Amino acid sequence: MKETAHIPVLLEETVAVLDPKPGETVFDGTVGSGGHALAIAEKMGGQGTFIAADLDEVNLAEAKAAVTERFPSLSATWVRGNYADARSILSGAGADFADVLLLDLGFSSAHLTSGRGFSFAKPEEELDMRYDATNGATAADIVNGAAESELAEIFWKYGEERFSRRIAKAIVEARKKGKIFRVGELTEIVYSSLPASAHRKINPATRVFQALRIAVNGELDNLRRLLSDLPEVMGVNGRAAVISFHSLEDRMVKNAFRDLQKSGEAELINKKPVVPKRSEVLNNPRSRSAKLRAVRMTGKKNKKVE
Ligand SMILES: C[S@@+](CC[C@H](N)C(=O)[O-])C[C@H]1O[C@@H](n2cnc3c(N)ncnc32)[C@H](O)[C@@H]1O
Repeated sequence: MKETAHIPVLLEETVAVLDPKPGETVFDGTVGSGGHALAIAEKMGGQGTFIAADLDEVNLAEAKAAVTERFPSLSATWVRGNYADARSILSGAGADFADVLLLDLGFSSAHLTSGRGFSFAKPEEELDMRYDATNGATAADIVNGAAESELAEIFWKYGEERFSRRIAKAIVEARKKGKIFRVGELTEIVYSSLPASAHRKINPATRVFQALRIAVNGELDNLRRLLSDLPEVMGVNGRAAVISFHSLEDRMVKNAFRDLQKSGEAELINKKPVVPKRSEVLNNPRSRSAKLRAVRMTGKKNKKVE
């Protein structure tokens, strides 16, 4: 196993709620290194249609190689793209709808060693943080270009950072002396802007880095788009599951699934979110904040992708 190997989170639980069957159409919108994909394909007996997307081409290629080698008879399509474009990705792959849909949100372990500044523990790396390294504004663009109020809003909204204004002010002060390009420069500014009394259980840079990553990749907008398209993307009886890693995402998923339930478009597969067992958290600390929610579409108002 590579040092950076990504351990799939809530693997058995996810396959159990999705219940993929031979011959079905699966959309894995965040295929990553293919950990969940392999388990899903296994449960399908290697028979059916598998449509996978990821914004990161290295991760996508890794998943493609692993799944294709093990399940050569699976009809698979690999798309470097945004899961929020699920409708066009499915129709481009010749599918009217998905029977099974999975989103395993956020970054993968491979990103921490990608050299793109995802980890505050890598001071020399450039502040990039894009999943798709070829497209869009980087974290450095935001740190150096956004107004103080915008920075504060990013840290507050996406990081729930209570010292958001102080940190934004310190960044704007620091960039008067020169651009901020590296992870270490940003972490130093964050550390020095906090009052000595600010007691933290976690590293003070954690929330700032999470917030920047969410902003750079438009993570909440993507999730919102996919959730609102679910009735059009999913077939009757289709099962959709989302694994989220922080409360902002989980709240969006919870509310969207509750609305689908209220309108009769879906049933909740689990009343409460599924969380990892203690043994999983011990083996894979990254799983500690994971929450899995899933729905089954009833068919009411469902329509096939045009
Ligand atoms: C937690 S990892 C998925 C891991 C995967 N389930 C596995 O078992 O290997 C999340 C992946 O989603 C990708 N990603 C994040 N946002 C995305 C988006 N909007 N569209 C497509 N892929 C996205 C990331 O590049 C990353 O590879």
